[in-house]
Amino acid sequence: MASDISSLLAEDRPSASTAEAAWRAAEIEAFAEAVLDGLARRPRSIPSRFLYDATGSALFEEITKLKEYYPTRTETKMLETFGAEIAEHAGDADILVEFGSGSSRKTSLLIDALDNLHTYVPIDVSESFLAEAAKRLVARHDGLTVKPLVGDFTRARTLIGAPRGERLGFFSGSTIGNLTHAEAKAFLENAAQLLGRGSVFLIGVDLKKSLDILIPAYDDEDGVTAAFSLNLLARVNRELDGDFDTRRFAHCALYNEHKGRIEIYLESLTDQKVSVRGRSFSFARGERIHTENSHKYSVHEFQVLASTAGWRPITAWTDADDLFSLHLLRLV
Ligand SMILES: C[S@@+](CC[C@H](N)C(=O)[O-])C[C@H]1O[C@@H](n2cnc3c(N)ncnc32)[C@H](O)[C@@H]1O
Repeated sequence: MASDISSLLAEDRPSASTAEAAWRAAEIEAFAEAVLDGLARRPRSIPSRFLYDATGSALFEEITKLKEYYPTRTETKMLETFGAEIAEHAGDADILVEFGSGSSRKTSLLIDALDNLHTYVPIDVSESFLAEAAKRLVARHDGLTVKPLVGDFTRARTLIGAPRGERLGFFSGSTIGNLTHAEAKAFLENAAQLLGRGSVFLIGVDLKKSLDILIPAYDDEDGVTAAFSLNLLARVNRELDGDFDTRRFAHCALYNEHKGRIEIYLESLTDQKVSVRGRSFSFARGERIHTENSHKYSVHEFQVLASTAGWRPITAWTDADDLFSLHLLRLV
């Protein structure tokens, strides 16, 4: 198995491009294992991180612009409004580490607010997207060093090439909601190791709210979210020699009240057989593959979760419509 995280900058280590190639090969094998195991299991499931290949990341960018998708515009507005206050608490930070950075579009607001910042370390599993975002940020922020790391943020044990210093963590877009409570706690504990004692962590977390707002955000009328979900099956076809007919599956978004989360499924529209890497899987009409969760938290629920992982709440902001929250935490 190759390293779980790899630097996209060849100058960090002479063997960086070899490590990246090894990471890519290991990632395809991890995808194959997740799909073959996940389709054999009941209920069927595939982990959500595999939604983000280059096509998935581009589709997610389209989702962020939809009128139904309130999280991105709300969090962006909040970063604009509370940037100075964030800087008051985290102004000493000289290194910004972002988990699941995607396009890094919102990050520029944070970078602009932090006077002492000299290094930005974005971590994402979507390699081409990460490299593009890194280039854009270098061009936009004079004097900023960008050290992109490609890999799974739940498994990163070191930040290759990142200098020592005061670290500020950033986890935006309520990506933490994709993790179960147990996974989120483990993630926060691991992030504590990576960021170090005394560091500050800014996390965007989606709030519980009415289903009239919540469901369309995950099932828009133009079908962009459906295309994002179905791309997972197309990715299986592209990378794992699969023969899914994406027209015979439908995107489905439900709210699980008991678990406080949106659940996304791909539902078979007919009885059918599908083959992946030579293995055959039968689907009955109505049978589903679980592809994503998006947990929703009250401010108090999230503060309790963060505290169990060693992070002390400094403050939390919500927007005027109570759609989204931004949590500022310190590692004690
Ligand atoms: C919901 S998007 C949010 C992107 C961005 N932070 C924003 O707010 O617009 C989730 C991002 O996390 C990345 N991601 C998801 N799971 C990951 C994992 N396990 N390790 C690293 N990156 C991951 C995806 O590639 C994607 O860019």
